[in-house]
Amino acid sequence: MDIKFDFSGRHVFVFGGTTGINLGIAKAFARSGARVCVASRKQENVDAAVEALRQFGGEVLGVTADVRDFDAVGRALALAHERFGPIDVLVSGAAGNFLAEANDLSSNAFKVVVDIDLNGTFHVMRQAFQYLARPGASVINITAPQSMIPMRFQSHVCAAKAGVDQLTRVLAIEWGAAGVRVNAISPGPIAGTEGMRRLAPQGEEGDAMVNSAVPLGRMGTPEDIAQLAMFLASSAASYVSGAIVPCDGGGASESIKSMVEAAAQEMKPRTA
Ligand code: COA
Ligand code: NAP
Repeated sequence: MDIKFDFSGRHVFVFGGTTGINLGIAKAFARSGARVCVASRKQENVDAAVEALRQFGGEVLGVTADVRDFDAVGRALALAHERFGPIDVLVSGAAGNFLAEANDLSSNAFKVVVDIDLNGTFHVMRQAFQYLARPGASVINITAPQSMIPMRFQSHVCAAKAGVDQLTRVLAIEWGAAGVRVNAISPGPIAGTEGMRRLAPQGEEGDAMVNSAVPLGRMGTPEDIAQLAMFLASSAASYVSGAIVPCDGGGASESIKSMVEAAAQEMKPRTA
């Protein structure tokens, strides 16, 4: 059975929604009738995303904001609320990543990833609560296998994404009484994304290695993640909250560990 989601007239806000997986999520909601707002740092990414989202015919808003800036996050959400009303679906997916062993990370290099991934997710959720449709809103954070699986060259990301998971679980408890569900999606290797450019061996051989490490035999697509996001945001998931849901082709998370090791061999991470 094929499932067709209908988010007609719903307000969906995707932070970090201008490229890659998060843009894929924004597109899927736009295609299903939602009014979509995307936000990220770079004006050119925001402009391109808005143009891509307009093709689905619905209302679209693009805002530039850095998730590390609590006030800027608040302004972006206020603008979207002013335009589209209460937020029905909030997605927080901004992230930064690069390969480096802990001994080769400066204090600022560790901090920058924690600031974007973890503090940024807190900023987005903390500022958005006042604008969420209560009851009924659904929050979806984008985490990663690193939150549960320790990986060499990824201490900063492992620490930050583990924090995102716990923030998800705790706010599911605290916001449950307001009728707000909070979940996270943990994508496996998603083809053609910036994350894979930074973390996987490149080229046909690299792709073949990653594909063969996934039990279902292929990398995922942004659309795979978007389908899960729409399910979690839909009434079909009305009793799902506080869940960290993998979307990784059958336990690809473990294999990401060897993918990262192979990529580090190839890319020669910066040393202190
Ligand atoms: N290895 C080690 N340290 C690195 C590094 C690398 N490859 N890349 C950046 N750093 C360090 C910098 O040297 C700096 O530390 P310093 O001040 O002690 O020199 C610190 O990290 C911050 O770097 P900067 O370039 O100033 O940060 P930024 O805010 O401009 O960019 C990043 C943030 C580094 C995360 C950047 O890669 C980014 O914008 N990423 C977004 C896209 C992305 O990563 N997508 C994949 C998602 S899975
Ligand atoms: P991406 O294309 O680089 O997406 C990151 C997005 O966040 C971009 O839109 C970027 O736009 C924005 N962003 C980055 N820093 C920001 C900041 N400080 N403030 C506001 N926005 C910021 O990466 P991706 O590979 O698609 O990854 C998307 C998400 O999926 C991330 O959370 C990542 O951890 C997760 N994930 C990815 C994979 C994978 O296979 N790719 C696997 C597991 C998990 P600007 O540059 O314009 O700010």
